[in-house]
Amino acid sequence: MRRIFRCLNPEFHRFHYAPGMTNLVLDPEIGYIDEAIEPGLDLLSEIERLKREKNAILLAHYYQEGAIQDVADYVGDSLGLSRQAAETEADMIVFAGVHFMAETAKILSPEKKVILPDLNAGCSLADACPADEFEAFKARYPDHIVISYINCSAATKAQSDIICTSSNAEHIVRQIPDDQPIIFAPDRNLGAYLMRETGREMVLWDGVCIVHQTFSEQKLIRLKTRYRGAPVLAHPECEEAVLRHADYIGSTSGIRKFAAESPLDTFIVATEEGILHQMRKDSPKKTFVPAPAEEGCACSQCPHMRLNTLEKLYLCLEHEQPEITMAEDVRLRALRPIERMLEMSRAVV
Ligand code: 13P
Ligand code: SF4
Repeated sequence: MRRIFRCLNPEFHRFHYAPGMTNLVLDPEIGYIDEAIEPGLDLLSEIERLKREKNAILLAHYYQEGAIQDVADYVGDSLGLSRQAAETEADMIVFAGVHFMAETAKILSPEKKVILPDLNAGCSLADACPADEFEAFKARYPDHIVISYINCSAATKAQSDIICTSSNAEHIVRQIPDDQPIIFAPDRNLGAYLMRETGREMVLWDGVCIVHQTFSEQKLIRLKTRYRGAPVLAHPECEEAVLRHADYIGSTSGIRKFAAESPLDTFIVATEEGILHQMRKDSPKKTFVPAPAEEGCACSQCPHMRLNTLEKLYLCLEHEQPEITMAEDVRLRALRPIERMLEMSRAVV
């Protein structure tokens, strides 16, 4: 039997290796519980049973595979997931999402056990902004306030003044006094979009989401010709070249809501395609066409999000591992800017 608690990313390892645990075999190659599952086991009912027995809540992001979304207690965007993590009365939070999301849940609910099916489920934005490099960058702009997108590590959050998500970023930037200079990190596309929308100059950290960065403008234009009249719904993590063709720009929950409420019947969707699962459930008669990526399989799936599987989810719940832990001083420093975000965005639904 092999149970592992070490993963490839040294920053995760620093915070998440749990030395006091017994029966562990450390394996640097993997970041999840690697154990044979009985053939034919009904994973969905087993997951439901384990949730009940352990008083665990399963939170899933829209970019998870459909089966995981269907077994979750709450499916949502980063803001909704943070609110749920802060408010839940469960004893355990199982996070079907990526590492920074589970980490945010732990920051908000330190007394709860927070587990993530695969510790390797990272994020290109979080990886692009290591805390030590960010600290040196910030030092060049001592009079700037730091707004960081939630897609960053706890250590980078700890160096920020306010956190934001794609749902509340514009709302938060507009609350900053005009004469207060701003650093925005780590997503340069979201930052540039906010600058265009608000007319505010900001100093941007140069990170991108590998999924949204690769949508192809040329292929999108061809798709618009093929599906004439279909609005393009895009996430603000996309490049400007793609966003300029969008009829609606917003978070995953915003995109979902727009399509559900629209009288139109066909939509081109420029974000990770996991969102289509809920959009199709909301409106079974409508047609949703995923925007194509520049190259590769053109499936627009996030390779990090898709590391989570039903099997890993089941094993994670059964063994209550891998667990998210972090140094308390980092947690407390990361908590302040997240709480500020929650306060400043109460009005955002
Ligand atoms: P939202 O669901 O908050 O829009 O975030 C999208 C995303 O890329 C999460 O990693
Ligand atoms: Fe990070 Fe992009 Fe994946 Fe979201 S979709 S987790 S921003 S890499």
